[in-house]
Amino acid sequence: MVLSRRDFIVGAAATTLALPSGRVRAAEGFVNPLRIPALLEGKKGGDAGTLQFDLDVTSGRSNFLPGLSTPTIGINGPYLGPTIRCRAGDRVALRVKNSLDEPTTLHWHGFHVPARHDGGPHQIINPGQVWEPSFEIKQKASMFWYHSHLVEQTGEQVARGLAGLFLIEDEESRALELPSEYGVDDIPLVIQDRRFSSDGSFEYMTSMGDAEVGYQGDVILVNGTVDPYVELRRQRTRLRILNGSNSRIYMLGRDDGTDLLVIGGDGSLLGRPVRMKRVTLAPAERIELLVDMQPGQRVTLMSYPSAGAMGDMKMRGGRDGVFPIVELRAGTRPDSANVSIPERLIQVPHWNPAQAARTRTFTLNMMTMSIGRWTGPAMELPMGINGHSMDMDRIDVQVPLGSVEIWEIRNATQLPHPFHIHDIQFRVLDRDGSPPQPHEQGLKDTVLVDSGSTVRVITEFADFADPKNPYMYHCHNLEHEDAGMMGQFVVV
Ligand code: C2O
Ligand code: CU
Ligand code: CU
Repeated sequence: MVLSRRDFIVGAAATTLALPSGRVRAAEGFVNPLRIPALLEGKKGGDAGTLQFDLDVTSGRSNFLPGLSTPTIGINGPYLGPTIRCRAGDRVALRVKNSLDEPTTLHWHGFHVPARHDGGPHQIINPGQVWEPSFEIKQKASMFWYHSHLVEQTGEQVARGLAGLFLIEDEESRALELPSEYGVDDIPLVIQDRRFSSDGSFEYMTSMGDAEVGYQGDVILVNGTVDPYVELRRQRTRLRILNGSNSRIYMLGRDDGTDLLVIGGDGSLLGRPVRMKRVTLAPAERIELLVDMQPGQRVTLMSYPSAGAMGDMKMRGGRDGVFPIVELRAGTRPDSANVSIPERLIQVPHWNPAQAARTRTFTLNMMTMSIGRWTGPAMELPMGINGHSMDMDRIDVQVPLGSVEIWEIRNATQLPHPFHIHDIQFRVLDRDGSPPQPHEQGLKDTVLVDSGSTVRVITEFADFADPKNPYMYHCHNLEHEDAGMMGQFVVV
C-alpha cells in the first residue's frame, strides 16, 4: 500500500503505532549478481552537437524477492533509471516523457543549471506530457543523480523507483587515469533500504516512524538488487556510491578492517585521496572509492552503527546496527593495473570566508512527537526552516547574482538532517567550529547536520539570474522535505 503524506496524516488516527509487518525472509548470503543500470551517452543531434537524451518515466513491476513481484516506477525501465554520462562543456537536451498516470518532476541533483531547467517542484510534468530541459554541463567530474521532486510526494515517488545516476567527466579527471570502464572497473552503487508487504509491494508511510524518522526499510537494495555480489575483473576498481535512501544514514566500512580509500565526494574529486576506516553517508551524499583486490579475494562493504542512528529500523539479517551492503569478489586472475595511487587529485575550487558578502542562518525545526500527541486525525507535522514550512508561493531568500555567501545551518531538532542546496556546489567550512571530515573536503551539495550541531558552508551564486523561478534548499530526508523542511531562493 502506498499512501501520500496527506492520506497518511488524515489516516493517522487509524494507523496504529504497530511496527511494520511482513518481514519476508532472512538474508541468505550474497546470491544475486549486482545489477548495473544501462549507460546512456546521448545521441548527437540538433544544433551544434547537442547531446540528446530520451527519458521515459514509466510504471512496471520488479522482482526483488524470490517469487514476489513489486509494483514500481522507473525511467526507461521498471525501477531506477539509466546512468547518463557526459563531459563538462557538453550541451545536453533531455526529453522527459511522463508515461505515468500521475504528475512527476525530474530534478538534476547537484547541477548548476538555470532554475527553470532544474526539475524542482515547479517543473511539473503532467501525465502524457514531455518536458524538455537543456543546459550546458558546468560541473566538475563526479557522480550526480536525478530524481523525482514532486512537492509532498518526493519521498513516495523516489521510494517507488524514480531516481538515476548522472556521471560527469572532465579534463582533470581524465588526466588522472582512474578506472573508468562503466560497469567493469567503474561501478555505481545506489544504496537504498525498502520494506515489503507480504504481497510483494513496497510498504510506505505505514507507521509513525515513517513520518518522523523518515522512511526506512529492513531490506537493502543496491542498484535494485537484494543480497548482491559483484565480480571484479580488474585489480583496481572505482566504486561510486550514492546513498539513494529516503532517510537512512549509513556508516560504511570494509569487513576486513582495511581502510576505505576515498577519492571523491558529492560534486568533485578530492584534492588528494584519503584513507578512512568508516565514512558516514547521509541521503543524497556520494563518495568515490578505489578498491584494490588480490586474486580470489572477497571483501564485504558493510554498514556499521552510527551515532545518529537512534530510531533506525533493524535490518533483516543485521545485528546491532551492523549489516552488509554488497560483497566484492575478485576473479582468480584479475587484469593487473597501474597500482600507484596519485598523491594529488584535483584543485578543489574554494572561496575565502573574507570574500563572503553575508552569512545567512537556516534553523531546522520540527516538532518532536510524543505518542500522546499523535492523536488528532488532522494532525500536521510541522517541519520547517526558520519557523516556516515549505510554501510554493513564498520566496524565502533572494540572493544577488555573483555573490559569495556563507550559509549557516543549525539543527535545533533531535534528529540528524542532511541539508541540500540546489544550483550550487559548496565547500564545508566547519561543523561546530571544527574542520569537516577529510572526505567532506571536496565540492559538496549535501551536508549532514547532526542534532544540536551547526554547519557552515560557503559558495558562490554565479551565472543564472531569474527573479521568477526559484531553486530549493531542503533537508534531503525525503519525508522531512515532504513535511515542509524546504525553502525557496531566487538568484537576482
Ligand atoms: Cu536531490 Cu532538491 O534534491
Ligand atoms: Cu538537488
Ligand atoms: Cu531532516
